[in-house]
Amino acid sequence: MNNLYISKKECMMKKLAIIYYSRTGNTEKMARLVAEGAGSEPGVEVDIVKVEDFPAKKALEYDGLIIGSPTYYGSMAGPVKELLDGSVAFHGQMEGKVGAAFSSAANIGGGNETTINDILNAMLIHGMIVQGNSQGDHYGPVSIGSPDARVKKQCKECGRRTAGLVKRLD
Ligand SMILES: Cc1cc2nc3c(=O)[nH]c(=O)nc-3n(C[C@H](O)[C@H](O)[C@H](O)COP(=O)(O)O)c2cc1C
Repeated sequence: MNNLYISKKECMMKKLAIIYYSRTGNTEKMARLVAEGAGSEPGVEVDIVKVEDFPAKKALEYDGLIIGSPTYYGSMAGPVKELLDGSVAFHGQMEGKVGAAFSSAANIGGGNETTINDILNAMLIHGMIVQGNSQGDHYGPVSIGSPDARVKKQCKECGRRTAGLVKRLD
C-alpha cells in the first residue's frame, strides 16, 4: 500500500494511567514527575488521577497502570489497597496490561520497597507485565519525603520506560 495507509495498530493510541494516593503531597509530586516522563514518549495518552477519583473498573480502559502510594506501616495506604481489592470484580481481564509502582516514605529502610512490591505483587496476580530496572531503582522509584534530584530522575525514567513498554505490547 502507499504511505497513506495506516494500520489499525498504528492509529490506536495506547493509554496509561498514573494513579496515586497522597495525604501530604510527596507521592503527588512523584506522580507528576512520572507523568512528565511518560508524556515524553510519543504515541501514549497519559492520565494522572487521584485514587479517590478512580473507580476500579476504569482500569479496564487502560493499557498500563502506574500506582503510587505513601508507605504506611511498610505497605500501601488503605485507599490503594481498596482499589486493588475492588479489582477482583474483573479478575482475569487485566492479563497483559503493563504495571509499575512507586512510593514515598519518611525513612530509609522505612518500607518503601516492600510497599512497591506489595503493589507489583497484586499486578502480577492479575497477569500484568512488570519491568524491573537494572540501573535505577530496581522495583520502582522510592523517595524519602519530597523528591530530590535523584528521585526526580528515577520518576521520569519510570514513566518513560513504562510508556515505552506499553507501546511495544499489543
Ligand atoms: C499512617 C502512616 C503510616 C506511616 N508508615 C510509615 C512507615 O512504615 N515507614 C516510613 O518510612 N514512613 C511511614 N509514614 C510516613 C509517610 O510514608 C511519608 O510521610 C510519606 O512521604 C507521605 O506521603 P504523602 O506526602 O504522599 O502523603 C507513615 C505515615 C502515616 C500517616
